[in-house]
Amino acid sequence: MIILSIETSCDETALSLVSLHKGDKNIKVLSDLVISQIETHAPYGGVFPALAKREHAKNLVPILRQAVKESKIESTHQHYDEEGVATILEREPELFQDLHEYLSTNGIPHIDMIMVTYGPGLAPALWVGVNFARALSIICDAPIVPVNHMEGHITSILLKEDYLNQEKAFSPLETFDFPLIALLISGGHTQLVLVKNWGEYEIIGETIDDAVGEAFDKVARLLGMEYPGGPKISQAAHGGVPDKSISLPRPMLNSGDYRFSFSGLKTAVRYLVDDLKKQHDGTLPDQIISNVAREFEDAVTEVLIKKTEKALVDYNAQGLIIAGGVSANTFITESFKIIAENHGIPLYLPLKKLSGDNSLMIASAGVINYWNKGAESYIPESELKAVGNLKLGK
Ligand code: KG4
Ligand code: ZN
Repeated sequence: MIILSIETSCDETALSLVSLHKGDKNIKVLSDLVISQIETHAPYGGVFPALAKREHAKNLVPILRQAVKESKIESTHQHYDEEGVATILEREPELFQDLHEYLSTNGIPHIDMIMVTYGPGLAPALWVGVNFARALSIICDAPIVPVNHMEGHITSILLKEDYLNQEKAFSPLETFDFPLIALLISGGHTQLVLVKNWGEYEIIGETIDDAVGEAFDKVARLLGMEYPGGPKISQAAHGGVPDKSISLPRPMLNSGDYRFSFSGLKTAVRYLVDDLKKQHDGTLPDQIISNVAREFEDAVTEVLIKKTEKALVDYNAQGLIIAGGVSANTFITESFKIIAENHGIPLYLPLKKLSGDNSLMIASAGVINYWNKGAESYIPESELKAVGNLKLGK
């Protein structure tokens, strides 16, 4: 069975094709593609939803063409319900034109099932992927499994090194002991999730304001770095040294619960940077920038560790997952390696290239839902909607 998975919740247009053998709890990855829109959004200092939507609509057919070619799946020339598909893609007329042209030239690809992110994320961006999935569902006569993006980040840790074209891309599911605690840290979310089993999740705490990645990006901007600043902060922090004149708060460190708050930390950086600029005639020396980056990374990490450790103990966790874009930060992951070791539990991280948004994680979460629920994991094409604030769990 050939599965197409689609991810368009933010600023990456991602699409992959995987194959599934009946009875085998594993997948083979045939093609895995991502087009990043970072350069389009960088001048705006963040993701601009209308632009993200336009870029997704422009990217989807070229990326489908490449995926079909790479994975060598068959296509057949057949008629499809052109009017029905045009209606679904009414708000993306260029996407319909591109798709129609592609199908007329290349035929209809043999796809048995479609998995797509329907939330959480930027609604205009999500809708493009959702409508593309609905259109292909009609064209290929394939059911749709809707996928929660955060569940995708959790299951991203299942993919093994060199997964492309391996017969078994997944770590065997039965090798995990539950419950697990997942710390999800991305540009849009910061959550602690209790993973009772694959497919069974409960959010036990989250940020009450900014997400960790968002805080990294905003602080980077204050330090004169371009969007997305997360990786640049972590690079600068490497050269940082402890500095008594640079100290930042650890928000909600002792709140005794699993809630996070990072907006005050960003404001504290703003005041600190203003002060430091005054001391240095308006321009921050590189060493000072590095010291601020280091103190910021320390503050964030300390809070993440304290809350996560509490969850590990309170729920008697048998393992820790850290996923989402910020899990690419090696200072954070190295710090958590020590924590996991101290607790005597394994730490599960996604491959670095799968820490950011991608569609393979959507295929991972989707196939687990399909294995758990069979046809009950499907949603009728006409009922599928994008849900910007979709929550994990019930
Ligand atoms: O998961 P993701 O790709 O997209 C969302 O779903 O939000 O996460 C993107 C976020 C951005 O805020 C980016 O700055 C941050 O992850 N990020 C990092 C690092 N690499 C990416 N933050 C800190 N250190 C990094 N090395
Ligand atoms: Zn994400």
